[in-house]
Amino acid sequence: MFFTRIISAAALLCCLQQTKAQNTIPIPDTLVGSNFSLTMHRDSMQILPGKITQTLAFNAHHFLGPTLILNKWQAAAFVVTNHIGDTTTLHWHGMHVPAKDDGGPHSPILNNGTWNPSFTILNKAATYWYHPHFMGKTAEQAIKGASGLIIVRDSEEATLPLPRKYGIDDIPLIVKCLQLDSNNQFMPRGMQDSTLLVNGVTNAQYNLPAQVVRLRLLNGSGERTFNFGFTANKTFYVIGNDGGLLSAPVPVTRIRLSPGERAEILLNLNAMNGQTLYLMSYASELPTGVQGGPTMPMASGPPMNSPLNGINFNILKLNVIAPTANPITLIPSSLVSVTPYTQSQANTTRSITFTADSMTVMDGPFYFNHLLFDMMRIDYRIPLNNTEIWTLYDSTMVAHPFHIHDVSFFVLDRDGNPPPPEERGWKDVVLVQPSETVRIIMRFTTFSDSTIPYMYHCHILMHEDDGMMGQFEVMPAGWSGIAVYTSGLEQVRLYPNPSQQIVTVNCLDAATEIEVCNVLGKTVHTDRFTGSTYALNVSNYEKGVYIVSLRQNGSIVRKKITVN
Ligand code: C2O
Ligand code: CU
Ligand code: CU
Repeated sequence: MFFTRIISAAALLCCLQQTKAQNTIPIPDTLVGSNFSLTMHRDSMQILPGKITQTLAFNAHHFLGPTLILNKWQAAAFVVTNHIGDTTTLHWHGMHVPAKDDGGPHSPILNNGTWNPSFTILNKAATYWYHPHFMGKTAEQAIKGASGLIIVRDSEEATLPLPRKYGIDDIPLIVKCLQLDSNNQFMPRGMQDSTLLVNGVTNAQYNLPAQVVRLRLLNGSGERTFNFGFTANKTFYVIGNDGGLLSAPVPVTRIRLSPGERAEILLNLNAMNGQTLYLMSYASELPTGVQGGPTMPMASGPPMNSPLNGINFNILKLNVIAPTANPITLIPSSLVSVTPYTQSQANTTRSITFTADSMTVMDGPFYFNHLLFDMMRIDYRIPLNNTEIWTLYDSTMVAHPFHIHDVSFFVLDRDGNPPPPEERGWKDVVLVQPSETVRIIMRFTTFSDSTIPYMYHCHILMHEDDGMMGQFEVMPAGWSGIAVYTSGLEQVRLYPNPSQQIVTVNCLDAATEIEVCNVLGKTVHTDRFTGSTYALNVSNYEKGVYIVSLRQNGSIVRKKITVN
């Protein structure tokens, strides 16, 4: 026991390079207002000594992007420009937006192209984020740095005595653990991740005033789960989950966050001026099935033996300095009213089992209900305003963070037990452990679209890229639930729509005639093709609405597209 301690302490010291100089974390600049311009570009950054690391970033950043500050009920319009030399998309993780503005794999932004989503902010005050979501490339693009935070404020949160001075007592913390190869380049599928970045820097430190401070934690890693805590098991207070504040601060000594999850916490530093403490991950307490916990002994597959697995390690050094003027010094006793959906409100239940080809598979591919993701398959059609319980069961050997777009949910229970108090708020990612059953409840309000689906997927990015993803459409009010299809053309999809460049036409693999007419009925394009996709170039069409007719074996389907 004694020797084990010495050895792990030594391992800790060398792998964290704590003798190295500390780097003060940058606080991302903020964008406010109602018009936002985000340009994703290739860049580079010195992460480790030696070779410079190629990155992706937004606007003036070399890594990550600005923090968007949004107010509930405001309108927001975006110009997203892609200069990364590859197709991408941009998804607003956690935000309740129309499917066409959600930035999933059906809304590609070609290289040098732009995308113009706009929506009203309907989310509650909380911390959200944005990242690419292009099929098969999410891990690569997000891990290289193409992501940033979104802070939503609302009038309820504004009245609470909470720290709100961005970068002073309200600190955004994007924690990523990554693997770099011997040339210091990101390995999107690397499972020996040991480079810890907080807001993009290693050996991170920050000065915090001796008062109550608020930390907005995002686990932006591709695979690692953190079991966050502080030096000497200092108590802190969880005030918010992914999609909103809790009803009251919950005192804890740990908060476990899997990839994609956020938490807002309060840390009371009142009497600590001059002291230091660390934000840590108590990964020794994670079970073996959770990536980041002790490495699972295994016969085959890629190495997962990151030196950080299963040990407690420091993430961010916090130097406590003099308090600010008008500091917040108290932990509030209550926050907002949270009314979880109740089981009796649900009118539909669905079951999703996480599966793999065999019980010994550690690195995937993983599936939902034995099915790989298919852009052409709609897994669920959900009536607008439906309240649903989804039962998630993990039959694999590894834990998977389940994420759903469009909605926030409540965790109903874990293996039949109510979730811990710090997990009783609005969520959009939930970690499901091997052999665990987690039930979530959610309501599909506001937006319906029978042509563009939303995604649900594992937020371990390589699992998602490998196909651990499904899609659902929220069907307009009055949808009968019975599809009235006459031909194999039922699954025709045109995206993005609206578009100003290429509309991809997806349909069943068969000989297809395509005809495009403008609103006056004038034919502007005809062609025939075989195969399941067709790239319709609308770049020199006048702006407006067009009707696309597709014919297969005498059946016809017509869809509207908008050229903007
Ligand atoms: Cu954070 Cu579908 O993603
Ligand atoms: Cu999302
Ligand atoms: Cu997974």
